[in-house]
Amino acid sequence: MDCWSLFILLFFICFKWIAAQEGELRWTYTGLLGQSEWSEHFPDCGGSSQSPVDVVTSLTKYDPTLTPMTPLGYSQHNHQPFTLLNSGHTVTVTLPEWMGLGGLPWLFTAVQLHLHWGSGGPSHGGSEHSIDGLSSEAELHIVHYNSELFPNISAAMRQKNGLAVLGILIEAGDETNPGFNNIIRYLSRIRHAEQKVLIPGFDVSSLLPKDLGRYYRYNGSLTTPPCFQEVTWTVFYEKVQISKAQLFKLETILYSSKSEEMDRMLLQNNYRITQPLNHRVIYKSFSADPGKDFSPGEVTAIVVGVMCGCVGLAVVIRFITKTIRENSVGKSNSKNKT
Ligand SMILES: *[C@@H]1O[C@H](CO)[C@@H](O)[C@H](O)[C@H]1NC(C)=O
Ligand SMILES: *[C@@H]1O[C@H](CO)[C@@H](O)[C@H](O)[C@H]1NC(C)=O
Repeated sequence: MDCWSLFILLFFICFKWIAAQEGELRWTYTGLLGQSEWSEHFPDCGGSSQSPVDVVTSLTKYDPTLTPMTPLGYSQHNHQPFTLLNSGHTVTVTLPEWMGLGGLPWLFTAVQLHLHWGSGGPSHGGSEHSIDGLSSEAELHIVHYNSELFPNISAAMRQKNGLAVLGILIEAGDETNPGFNNIIRYLSRIRHAEQKVLIPGFDVSSLLPKDLGRYYRYNGSLTTPPCFQEVTWTVFYEKVQISKAQLFKLETILYSSKSEEMDRMLLQNNYRITQPLNHRVIYKSFSADPGKDFSPGEVTAIVVGVMCGCVGLAVVIRFITKTIRENSVGKSNSKNKT
């Protein structure tokens, strides 16, 4: 190694050390303190039960005990405002403590919700979880802690069964989603990291898919440092849609840099790559793939098709038996002649 490479090497080691000393909040998704380096500073990020994961649907197991998720108090904002914050890593909405989650062995209390997204517009990824290798455009996480066992989220975060997160996959389409506008409309007020603003309270259930009964369930982790592995994950089968314009705003309005920083950095691609499943099993609350249910039109088509098929088969069978009979009659006739 020549002098110059040694210098560069030492420079990088020194830079990384300084960056690490600068505080835990400086982790990023790419670059020197990017996701491949997280586990150096946050050991849990290198654990064997990390999130997000790719849901390979053919390997999921049906668990009939998984009952529909029941959001509690999601619709009641009691005319109290919510706090919208640009954390530099995502946009979060602080949720009031009367919001919670039923359908799990304990009662969970809501803490906050936040989003993950990409940068390339529709069909360029941005979600954290993927289904059979396919990402969606964005993902909503609603974070809850186990309030039956623990006094607050900081206590729950490091304990077994401490957290429950709802994962909602988001696709871009043509129609504006009024629920998500309750957040997206105010993003321009928190363009820089650490900025926050009070926004009118809104019905949080308007962000959820209609079908809360079909979902995937597995044991995983927080998808950002410190990556604690205490999360019971629920990823809904049904995706929600926002418009392409809404997605564009989410991808382009926010900065990950603070207002006083000279270099403005867009807050984009704030999703972690999928992690190895290792020994884990992903359970599903539904037995058949609901996508394979037949619509009334398809049912009609199948009934008509089957009837036509039966008639056709009857005609063919009749033709064959007739031919056989005629043949045997012909044969016996010729026999008689001899
Ligand atoms: C959370 O609960 C623990 C244990 O009771 C307590 O020590 C801690 O101060 C609480 N933290 C907050 C932020 O309330
Ligand atoms: C999660 O882990 C616990 C044991 O720690 C286990 O009892 C439970 O069945 C697991 N849940 C899932 C969905 O794998």
